[in-house]
Amino acid sequence: MKIKKIHAREVLDSRGFPTVEVDLSIDDPRHPGELTTARAIVPSGASTGEGEALELRDGDKKRYQGKGVLKAVSHVREKIAPALVGRDFANQALLDDALRDLDGTPFKKNLGANALLPVSMAFARAQAQAQGIPTYRMLAQLFGSSGSTLPVPLMNIINGGKHADNGLAIQEFMIVPAGFTRFSEALRAGAEVFHRLKKILHDKGLSTGVGDEGGFAPVFEGERPHEQALLSIMQAITDSGYKPGIDIFLALDCAASEFCDESRQYNFEGRKRPAREMIDLYSQWVDTYPIISIEDGLSEHDWEGWAEATRAIGGRCQLVGDDLFVTNPAYLRKGIETKTANAILIKLNQIGTVTETLETMKLAAQSGYASITSHRSGESEDVFISELAVATDCGQIKTGSASRTDRIAKYNQLLRIEEELGERSRFAGKGAFRGLKGK
Ligand code: PGA
Ligand code: ZN
Repeated sequence: MKIKKIHAREVLDSRGFPTVEVDLSIDDPRHPGELTTARAIVPSGASTGEGEALELRDGDKKRYQGKGVLKAVSHVREKIAPALVGRDFANQALLDDALRDLDGTPFKKNLGANALLPVSMAFARAQAQAQGIPTYRMLAQLFGSSGSTLPVPLMNIINGGKHADNGLAIQEFMIVPAGFTRFSEALRAGAEVFHRLKKILHDKGLSTGVGDEGGFAPVFEGERPHEQALLSIMQAITDSGYKPGIDIFLALDCAASEFCDESRQYNFEGRKRPAREMIDLYSQWVDTYPIISIEDGLSEHDWEGWAEATRAIGGRCQLVGDDLFVTNPAYLRKGIETKTANAILIKLNQIGTVTETLETMKLAAQSGYASITSHRSGESEDVFISELAVATDCGQIKTGSASRTDRIAKYNQLLRIEEELGERSRFAGKGAFRGLKGK
């Protein structure tokens, strides 16, 4: 696969901040003399883990409040393109090795992960195009999987934390329509619950404006706003004619690093609490509500709290490391060795190349950890994560609510893939989760 052209430009993400888009062209073996061109856009997080690969920002306060990405764009144009154009890469791993060598640092500190990743993603797509196959099939070949499993969507219908301005410490309240036989049916149920929740919030006089990931961002007044959020969602499920704990489950992303202070106290509902108290609260919630997954329940610095949470709740609930593992095989390995968490969130831009992302997912699968392919809070029309989720048969995708085209684009791509796979497709359903027994 000889690379013929690489071009980068600054475009905008779903928050209206700049991000990097790359167009990459290779020879088209199906039409000699012609090129096939693929495009990719990198997403951007807000509640980022400290161990993430570098997202290079210009820091020029005169443009986009310092968030411009012209440096990353120039790294693609002036460093990556001259080094790679004209070279032949037999596969994704060789291309990604070349990208990593050009950067030369484990956290992509020289060129920026936002310069490397769009090249890596666009190359994957271009390879698929050159072979005349969908991207998910090409990635499945790389991963050694069937590439036929439609993931259960984890749909974030109430936003808090850094993604909203409503005083909720917990960042994401998700519905998980796992009790269905097809992805399209699960998505329909999720969208119906979203619309029902809108009515419930409206009738209570609460705001129905949405946060960064398309979920509602109401301000719940009173003592226990987080339980009010859970109860509103439970009501929305029942009012939609579905059974909580059978058809539809719940999941949380606490993003607890954001409300944990330096002395490892959690600032939650008006009081500072030690990890033990948060674990007890989660444990009680898992018993009371059909919660099957809790992400970042403790801070990324609180490995002891995490290990304790895993002992206390890990047998009956999926515990997902996002900020804790940052899609990095080294952190995941530490988790496996110390029996910390039992699942990992997968975000391509936390690590910076497609190959490293697949390596992390492989390690998770081999170690009995579930993988959840994930969007970022700053997204675009790019649907690569839909392809990745199906390709790896990971069984779960987290890509926001049933609103905002940046989120819906991913769901729509999954609908297309389900249709294309036809009889060969399967829906991951409840089998994708641990701890479902007895719920
Ligand atoms: P982020 O949030 O993209 O802002 O990091 C998503 C998440 O925490 O899962
Ligand atoms: Zn998270």
